[in-house]
Amino acid sequence: MTDPVATPVAYSVRDGVAVLTIENPPVNALSQGVRAGIIAGLDKADADPAVSAAVIIGGGRTFIAGADIKEFGKPPLQPYLPDVLKRIEAMTKPVVAALHGTALGGGFEVALTCHWRVALESGQVGLPEVKLGLIPGSGGTQRLPRLVGPKIALDLILSGNPMTAKKAAELGAVDEIVSGDLLDGALAFARTVVAEQRPLRLVRDMNDKVSNVDPAVFEEIRKASARKAKGFLAPWRCIDAVEAATKLPIDDGLLKEREYFFECMGSPQRAAQIHAFFAEREAAKIPGLPEDVKPKQIRSAAVLGAGTMGGGIAMNFANAGIPVKLLDVSQEALSRGLGVIEKNYATSVARGSMKQEAMDRAMKLITGTQHFEDIGDADIVVEAVFEEMGVKKEVFGKLDKVMKPGAVLATNTSTLDIDEIAASTSRPQDVIGTHFFSPANVMKLLENVRGAKSSPETIATVMALGKTLKKVAVLAGNCDGFIGNRMLHGYLREANFLLEEGATPQQIDNALEEFGLAMGPFRMSDLAGLDVGWRIRKGKAHLRPKDERYSPVADRLCERGRFGQKTGAGFYKYEGRNALPDPVVEDVILASAKEQGIERRVISDEEIVQRCMYPLVNEGAKILAEGIAIRPGDIDITYLFGYGFPVYRGGPMFWAEQIGLDKVLATIRGFHKIHGKFWEPAPLLVQRAEAGKGWNDR
Ligand code: COA
Repeated sequence: MTDPVATPVAYSVRDGVAVLTIENPPVNALSQGVRAGIIAGLDKADADPAVSAAVIIGGGRTFIAGADIKEFGKPPLQPYLPDVLKRIEAMTKPVVAALHGTALGGGFEVALTCHWRVALESGQVGLPEVKLGLIPGSGGTQRLPRLVGPKIALDLILSGNPMTAKKAAELGAVDEIVSGDLLDGALAFARTVVAEQRPLRLVRDMNDKVSNVDPAVFEEIRKASARKAKGFLAPWRCIDAVEAATKLPIDDGLLKEREYFFECMGSPQRAAQIHAFFAEREAAKIPGLPEDVKPKQIRSAAVLGAGTMGGGIAMNFANAGIPVKLLDVSQEALSRGLGVIEKNYATSVARGSMKQEAMDRAMKLITGTQHFEDIGDADIVVEAVFEEMGVKKEVFGKLDKVMKPGAVLATNTSTLDIDEIAASTSRPQDVIGTHFFSPANVMKLLENVRGAKSSPETIATVMALGKTLKKVAVLAGNCDGFIGNRMLHGYLREANFLLEEGATPQQIDNALEEFGLAMGPFRMSDLAGLDVGWRIRKGKAHLRPKDERYSPVADRLCERGRFGQKTGAGFYKYEGRNALPDPVVEDVILASAKEQGIERRVISDEEIVQRCMYPLVNEGAKILAEGIAIRPGDIDITYLFGYGFPVYRGGPMFWAEQIGLDKVLATIRGFHKIHGKFWEPAPLLVQRAEAGKGWNDR
């Protein structure tokens, strides 16, 4: 590894300036070889009397995009990043960082340690560590506040999002924006610095912006972060570290930062968030597709059904700059749908999250129609009509007649059989499920569902579509509920059973929100509307075995016209959006428990979490074994992006592994004894747990 010939840092000298070019594709991550290579290059430059300055630049598409995430969790290899930074600061000659692409994390920290920074206008800088459950660990929390002040620094660090080099230049974090060739610009800058004999400028020596900072600043930031950072460790340590920058001399601050960094590095949250990072990228890769298969170009789209879902889906296309026709046979529904879209955009503009011009552009891309003939030339059509097989089949029959050959015919069904829908066309190879999540213009998950006959090209097209629409696409197999909703079934079942056994809706919601879910099951059901589930349950009632336990609580609420938030009452009563406990609901629960002879007892929050979450794991294991999900990570991604599962737990499958599959199985077996067949352990879980292995271990 330390073989100098193999170093991924190329060294050359251009007119007296040493150029260190990082060549570590794809993103020039700071692997051990890069760290060693930078030190070796700087040693050489410092020792060479013919060299007056050094430039550090990235080869390929980017400057350094951060630490090598693949090294995390493994024993650290020398030299460490702080050693590299110490070497930069010890240079007797100017060092200029030349930034393009994404200078992120450790990459930006390298740049912040150089004497000067120049960048292409298109470049971006950022400290995304918080997204990986970490804090910037090599001076980012100490140097950035010295350049831009603690408040702006924390904005960047807590969001984890990059900012443009132009913005960084305005704020003083970048010294010059270069137009034209980056290396030429950086060399010119270095020569000027040398010619002007500018004293070497180290950020560590700049103390103005971190002196006399009112501690109230940090209290305010803590308050403002309370909701978003709830349950996370890293954001709080980011704030602590930046606060330390305002209180301690830099070397002590750096030590404090390192201490917090290692605390985060050792936490299960870091492992979970890094799992999520790689699982998200892995989900895009579909094994078994022929190598040469190419996604079809999507230049135009159509959406059927102008309801909430259809409207949201149309907004997705428009946001991506793709013209979209929204079709609804009812003029009234169409006008209403278009009105809702306009209102949604206007809200974003009013909130400042969208510019008026962007709204105008998006609205121009959406046109309404009542006629199937108008949509025939679209590259893809997404059906989002009433969730009933008869209706879907009729619609797909029509699509088969009007759509041009090769168009992708997608259905947004959340439960129905894709193959049956495909069979109502003469081109099942073009039919596929694209399950969006409500609100479709907000939720990041796209659960694509392949039918038995969906062609590789159709699959590749909808996976690529996920990226185009800035979503995370996961590929599921065809079964009732696919990945996400199939797993949700057991979760909701147990939540309802727990009501009868002694818990209240608020206790269950609170316990699961404390666990980290964005919203507990009853608040979520009330928001989604209870009537849809009621209708589905009534439709399937005849299939339910008579001896199977069934909670009628939700049905009884619906019988009283309580459909959730939209009717002002469901599992709660509502004052505006405020969910309040309702004695009527308690009566319904008590009556149901009594009828079934269930003796109510005190239920712990721990039991609530296990009873509601372990069904996800058990069903997840079945889904994996059946090949409905390709990888456990795909299940995790589905829950992280579609169901508000806390990212710091990595998703249900990863979370179960962190607990230990053997422990999860033992608890499930305990529930099986008490509660019967719903808790039959999944064979894959038994097999993995008994072998002492994780999901992926061989
Ligand atoms: N370490 C190791 N591998 C990394 C990496 C890192 N810091 N950043 C990206 N990669 C890998 C990805 O896993 C992916 O590998 P794959 O092709 O085998 O799946 C490849 O580089 C390309 O990344 P991808 O995210 O698909 O490309 P992109 O162009 O959409 O985005 C980045 C590029 C750099 C913006 C994005 O990858 C990113 O945000 N990376 C994380 C940066 C970070 O957090 N750095 C701080 C670490 S402390």
